[in-house]
Amino acid sequence: MFRVSSLLLWLGCATPLLAATVSIHINATNPGPRLNPRMYGIFLEEINHGVDGGLYAEMIRNRGFEDAKPPEGFTFRPGNGTRPGRWMAGQYDAEAFGHFDYFNPDGTMKDFPFWSLVKEGAAQGSMNLDTNHPLDPAGPRSLRLEIDDLGSGRLGVANEGFFGVGVAAGKKYSLSFWARGEGFSGPLTASVEDSGGVPCVQPVILQGVTSQWQQFHATLTAAKTEAKARFVLTAGARGKVWFDMVSLFPAETFKNRPNGLRPDLAQFLADLKPGFIRFPGGCVIEGGTIETAFNWKDSVGPLPGRQEQFGPWGYRETHGLGLFEYLQFCEDIGAAPLYVGFAGETCHFRDVKDVPLEQMGWVVTNFLEAIQFANGPATSPWGKLRAEAGHPESFHLNLVEVGNEGQARTFPPRYQLVHAALKSQYPDISYINDFSFIRRSQAGAEPADLEDNHYYQNPDWFMTHTNLYDDRDRKLPPVYDGEVAVTSGDNSDTHGTLLSALSEGAFLMGLEHDADVVKMVSYAPLLANVGGRTGWHGMIYFDSLNSYATVSYYLWKLFGLNRPDYTVAANLDYHPDAPAAIIGAVGVGTWNNSGEFKDIRVEKDGRILYASDFTKDTAGWRAEGGSWSVVDGAYRQSSSREGSLSYIGDETWSNYTITLKARKVGARGEGFLIAFGKKGGDKYWWNVGGFGNTQHDVELNQTIIGSPVRSVLEANRWYDVKIVLAGRRIQCFLDGQQIHDIQVPAQDRFFANAGRDEAGGELVIKAINVSPNPVSSTFHVAGLSQFAAQGDLTILSSGRLSDNNSMADPKKVIPVTSRLNIPGDTFTCEIPANSFTLLRVKAR
Ligand code: AHR
Repeated sequence: MFRVSSLLLWLGCATPLLAATVSIHINATNPGPRLNPRMYGIFLEEINHGVDGGLYAEMIRNRGFEDAKPPEGFTFRPGNGTRPGRWMAGQYDAEAFGHFDYFNPDGTMKDFPFWSLVKEGAAQGSMNLDTNHPLDPAGPRSLRLEIDDLGSGRLGVANEGFFGVGVAAGKKYSLSFWARGEGFSGPLTASVEDSGGVPCVQPVILQGVTSQWQQFHATLTAAKTEAKARFVLTAGARGKVWFDMVSLFPAETFKNRPNGLRPDLAQFLADLKPGFIRFPGGCVIEGGTIETAFNWKDSVGPLPGRQEQFGPWGYRETHGLGLFEYLQFCEDIGAAPLYVGFAGETCHFRDVKDVPLEQMGWVVTNFLEAIQFANGPATSPWGKLRAEAGHPESFHLNLVEVGNEGQARTFPPRYQLVHAALKSQYPDISYINDFSFIRRSQAGAEPADLEDNHYYQNPDWFMTHTNLYDDRDRKLPPVYDGEVAVTSGDNSDTHGTLLSALSEGAFLMGLEHDADVVKMVSYAPLLANVGGRTGWHGMIYFDSLNSYATVSYYLWKLFGLNRPDYTVAANLDYHPDAPAAIIGAVGVGTWNNSGEFKDIRVEKDGRILYASDFTKDTAGWRAEGGSWSVVDGAYRQSSSREGSLSYIGDETWSNYTITLKARKVGARGEGFLIAFGKKGGDKYWWNVGGFGNTQHDVELNQTIIGSPVRSVLEANRWYDVKIVLAGRRIQCFLDGQQIHDIQVPAQDRFFANAGRDEAGGELVIKAINVSPNPVSSTFHVAGLSQFAAQGDLTILSSGRLSDNNSMADPKKVIPVTSRLNIPGDTFTCEIPANSFTLLRVKAR
């Protein structure tokens, strides 16, 4: 058990009187519940091009030419001159999620997304989409290259890969493609070229195209490193040649499996030593339409026969990483498979549709047969397919989730139908029901072995919900928190910053404390191609060649690898520093609209720190987003981008008063933002006319502090704005009337817990310090008498809470381990500012 108590030694001045201290009283004779050895796992979904263009090592995008297929279950609504046509399913617009290059300007489908014709010199010819000569009926489209004349030029096709084809000097790549010809006798040349047409590999010449489909293989060896190359396949003679399933893989995949995984990304996941892998979704299993709900049968068997599908994240999924490959990966890294299946209801963030109850037969059968595919004897119909794929033994699928994020009224009867059939045939499997969007009173009797909950929240929420499950009714099924991540309020669009990681860690400590009811937890989403983001962050980022992990990755890894067998009592007596004043520069901005600002003054103790005169210049202003100019003596932001701000002043400013005039220009969008206390990545702002012009509120890194005030701003009217900062007190005035008076509480927080690792005979202590100051810590351990002379001290920390790793600086914030002297059952340690600290000590 852990408890956080805080005692403010505060005598009314802003100067710290004492350094922060904490006494941590650990009682090893007072054990908490045992933790599930498979508590920490991962959730692997096809989102952010995390699988296609990510973990699945295929480098050719639209290899089967099926990307010309319209999104399944959508209908085309033609445009009307001003509005382009759209593929719609109910109110769900495929293009709204289709961030990628599938659509022509009029909204119709492109014939060859991600492919282009190579026509150089005097060469003549064309590329055409062909459905008359299917390699496999599951993927009827192929590319027909017609070579009319070559002259002294070149004719062929090129593929841009997933945001670039990435090759590294010295590495080998396995090329394969299917081809057939008519009146074509010439060779084909395969290469990878940079944007200037310079080969990055030794080009390879292939002969022997006939009128029958044949698969061709070659190995390409890279001579130079290039992240944004393209794959080029050219013809050496006149005639017609058809291509399908054009594929390029790194010769080396994870565990060298054919049709395998990108080694760097798979290794990141393997290094987490996850207890389980939940796959393949999320929204992916629900689909945006019933036709695009995940059907595992489309994802097994030989690749040309796998049915590709337009996924809910706006791109077509190849299913190259299919049910077999997911199960194989679980086995390869020692993780228990957790399969999530479509339970008859599509995603409620899209076009929610239900399979009629009387037609649910195929949905139930798909679940039953998925289990047979994973576990059934090699003589059973679906077990045989698994055995033919190279795995006669069972994959031991023992965790099955029935649906994802089902809706309150419509989901429960479907869940019950599926669950009853599964339970009667496979009673030993644990079934999981997603309770994220269903209140217990609405669900009725929904039997489940585990209940899934999804938490996408801001750092403050996670730090204030460490006790979330303390009061859970222990008679209810235990919990699996399947999707957990900071998604707002960490002041970044990539998330996984040090602040996110520490707050997620505080929440995980609470889950360890309540391990009698919390059996499993996983972060989401896991993977993100930096070019393929679908509005979501990732825990691990990558491009076509490189990858890095966020601070959240390292924190979750430390929790997973340092899971105690059981927790022991840990009581804290925490004395934070006296809180410091709000300090930092000032700024102005808008959200989703245009706005103007003038007569800006910043004053402190009668001194003018800044006074604007935009008729002269805008010297010193630093725009971060938006489009800024001076119009009629006012500083105008004119783009409709969200969060367009410009800043001025010094990061050391404190206790100042800002006055200015501001107006919202035009009726659309919101009001205006007045920023203050902007230091590094952190900032406060007064959001005047925020949240769709419905309220005024003060926010720290977009998390509201104090109480919002309901109000609407008039467009095109100048308002007098005044903000007074005194220590941590914020007073905000509009046209002379006080709107807010907020005393910002100290943000400093400290969390700790302790547990026992039985095999190693170790005491495992975790501490999180979310404050800008180190905390001098004293540990008092009862119930253990013999301590090793030193313990392992691992610290994950950085100068700023907004710090994160990046492609340019992938190891900026990573754990560092040293040794700590342990003189006996009382020892001390300085817990650094902004840190997660892990201490492992052998003790009996
Ligand atoms: O993790 C991203 C998405 O969030 C998942 O697909 C879904 O379950 C949730 O809404």
